[in-house]
Amino acid sequence: MKSTLLLLVAAGLMAAGAANAQSGADLAKSKNCMGCHDLEKKKMGPSFKDVAAKYKGDKGAEAKLIAALKDGKGHPSKAAATDAELKTLVQYVLSAK
Ligand code: HEC
Repeated sequence: MKSTLLLLVAAGLMAAGAANAQSGADLAKSKNCMGCHDLEKKKMGPSFKDVAAKYKGDKGAEAKLIAALKDGKGHPSKAAATDAELKTLVQYVLSAK
């Protein structure tokens, strides 16, 4: 029952509430971000560490990246994720070290 398991995981993530590195990492996997990205290495897309370094100190980065992923502008794919999930994902990417 894979879908039941996914639902349980999703519920768990919501219960966890505040975005933490772990739920961000899990979300990035479940949303297939890791098909084109890696934390450390460049794949088809830049590594999340490189993205974090690029936007270091940029206060508008979070909103900009959420918008890019939402509309597929400046990003090759639109992310099939809710606003809350996108926020968690982008915070995770920007906190990659
Ligand atoms: C089909 C492959 C693919 C998938 C799937 C994908 N990405 Fe990307 N992503 C890319 C590529 C390629 C770039 C580089 C785009 C560029 O620089 O023009 C990129 C760039 C980015 C950037 C940096 C944008 C910037 O302005 O520097 C972020 C952040 C990002 N992706 C996050 C995500 C997240 C989060 C997901 C999952 C929801 C995801 N990506 C899924 C290919 C992908």
